[in-house]
Amino acid sequence: MFKILLGTNNYKKGVELSELLLSFGVGVSTLADFACGFEVVEDGKSFIENARKKAIECARFFKTPSIGEDSGLCVEALGGLPGIYSARFAATNNSNATDVENNKLLLEKLSSVPIMKRTAFYTCAAVVVDATGVIIGEAQEYCRGRILFEASGEGGFGYDPLFEIIEYHKTFAALNPAVKKTISHRARTMRKLIPSILKIKNTNLE
Ligand code: IMP
Repeated sequence: MFKILLGTNNYKKGVELSELLLSFGVGVSTLADFACGFEVVEDGKSFIENARKKAIECARFFKTPSIGEDSGLCVEALGGLPGIYSARFAATNNSNATDVENNKLLLEKLSSVPIMKRTAFYTCAAVVVDATGVIIGEAQEYCRGRILFEASGEGGFGYDPLFEIIEYHKTFAALNPAVKKTISHRARTMRKLIPSILKIKNTNLE
């Protein structure tokens, strides 16, 4: 089966993409499958810059078609923060903070902000490159909601217990996972990239 490398160590992101691409005859591997300590420094100034960097460096290192993706939460009342710093929002050094620490800091920063002004969106940027690192497709999509005053729900990860989809009256952590898989920023972005992924697959079969 044709396989594409998703440049992440996040196993859940790999499973999500595998499920999306299975019916197209495309398999997905992640950096966790290689266990070689390869890492990309996320020093871009935007989600798409980070995604491009991850895709190109992965493809060149592993010599295989790759997808780089970068995602995060942007809160309007905080001028777009945590944004590209989502994973390390509460960190005191250069490494990532835990989800609990990040969520606590987010609630603190929004403590005086009323519900009407707590609007936010998740975004995911992703870039597909061929085995030499040439960009074949890019996409960036969004999922809108708002930040509640306290956590609700057991599922998901990251900021999901605080992120409410207004139309469903439920946080991403409380929603049925099948719904999140359909409406999430990552699902929307990856669906847009299917034609680019299939283009590489078909070129590899020629
Ligand atoms: P990345 O792995 O560098 O893209 O990290 C993105 C960070 O953004 C994660 O560590 C989470 O804090 C946050 N994030 C991105 N997507 C989601 C999501 O679907 N749910 C919850 N948090 C997310």
